[in-house]
Amino acid sequence: MKVLIATEKPFAQEAVKGIKDILDTANYEMLLLERYTEKAQLLDAVKVADALIIRSDKVDSEVMDAAPNLKIVVRAGAGYDNVDLKAATERGIVVMNTPGQNANAVAELVFGMLIYTIRNRFDGTSGWELMGKKLGLLAFGAVAQNVARIAHGMGMDISSYSPLNRPQKIIDAGYHVHESIQDLFKYNQIVSLHIPSTPETRGSITYDLIMSMRKNGVLVNTARQDIIDEEGLIRAMTERTDLHYVTDLKLKDHERAIEALGDRYLFTPKKMGAQTKEANVNAGLAAAQQIVDFFVDGVKKYQVNK
Ligand code: 3PG
Repeated sequence: MKVLIATEKPFAQEAVKGIKDILDTANYEMLLLERYTEKAQLLDAVKVADALIIRSDKVDSEVMDAAPNLKIVVRAGAGYDNVDLKAATERGIVVMNTPGQNANAVAELVFGMLIYTIRNRFDGTSGWELMGKKLGLLAFGAVAQNVARIAHGMGMDISSYSPLNRPQKIIDAGYHVHESIQDLFKYNQIVSLHIPSTPETRGSITYDLIMSMRKNGVLVNTARQDIIDEEGLIRAMTERTDLHYVTDLKLKDHERAIEALGDRYLFTPKKMGAQTKEANVNAGLAAAQQIVDFFVDGVKKYQVNK
């Protein structure tokens, strides 16, 4: 059995070593394609693969057609909007993710970026503190739950809105539940987005929502770039010069955003939320184990293309 790790953004070495150990024990061969720059390299590498471990790497029908032996793709991470699920299902390929495994890393980045922003990028002027401030979480999945845990320790006032109308986890955790996304945006000074990219969520963070934010509001996006209505965000933030946009996903029209928002737009040069040794080890090893369990015992627990 040949398992290809195809990661444009590589895992930490510890993670690759841990994956190899799991695969060695199962007598599987590990193949490694890291830091590739052309799709042709991926198309070439998948030719012999029975299984594929990826991160945000795009796996479309062309990649699948180049891989005649491919039976399983595991996205070492949470979001699988980079995989064409329909194409996979049509070809009988199982797609899985590793939910929760990199969530703490993303949550910690939220606070790193937030503090840098509200302390005015350490420019010598007085910033403000998180204690006592209202934090609203859009959705309450694994990353949001970790954000809430950290925010609780910082003495923040936490609330959340469940777009899928499943508020029980929010209630069980003891936080305030909003009835609508509009309420979430109006009520909180800091709004942190934790929704996946789906046809329903794309462009769903609109001009009106952003305009309704409280004075000196901060919108934090460590989820996906395309959930933002980019035109709406730039227009709203141009009108509301008190607002900040903090993100791990650069806007498509990045240069225009820098020009329009200046220092109120804080971004990472490359998506960094899950880029820690711990998250790489957690997600990478889970992915390898899920592949072995799938081939050996037919386990499909985290299949997402059912
Ligand atoms: C995820 O969906 O798991 C995160 O966005 C992390 O993505 P990455 O593995 O590409 O860093």
